[in-house]
Amino acid sequence: MAEPTQDQIDELVAVAIAVRGMAYAPFSKFYVGAAILDNEGRVFSGVNVENSSYGLTICAERTAAGTAITAGAKEFVAVAVATPGAAAPCGACRQFLYEFGPRCTVLLVDSETGAVKHTATLDEFLPSGFRLSS
Ligand code: THU
Repeated sequence: MAEPTQDQIDELVAVAIAVRGMAYAPFSKFYVGAAILDNEGRVFSGVNVENSSYGLTICAERTAAGTAITAGAKEFVAVAVATPGAAAPCGACRQFLYEFGPRCTVLLVDSETGAVKHTATLDEFLPSGFRLSS
C-alpha cells in the first residue's frame, strides 16, 4: 500500500473542504465533504446526500467511493473527510471503504480551520473488517 505524499494530502484536504459546500443536508445541516486518492494518483470527491425519507441518506465517503469506482479506481490510498469538528467516518462508511483499501490513510479534517485533526489507517478505525477475500 502506497503512502500519500504531503502534496497529495494537501490536495485531498483542499478538495474535501471545497466540495463540502455541495452537500445536500437540509435535515441535519451537517455538511460533509470527502475526497479519495486512488493508487493511480487520481482524486475523487463526494458529499452527503440526504433525503426526505431520512434512512436513504448517503454519506459523503460512500458518494466519493461510488464516484471513484465508477471511474475505474481499484484501490484507495487515502481518504480525507471534512466536517466541523473533524468527525470520524460512521461504521457503515468504514466497512464500505474497507473493501477498496483496508490499510488506506484516513484524514479527519476540521472544515472550519482546514487542520488535519487525526490521521490513522482504515484498519485502525475498523479492526477486523469484513472481506470475502483476503
Ligand atoms: N455523514 C456523512 O456524510 N459521513 C459520515 O461518516 C457520518 C455522517 C452525514 C450523513 C448525514 O447527512 C449527516 O452526516 C448527519 O448524520
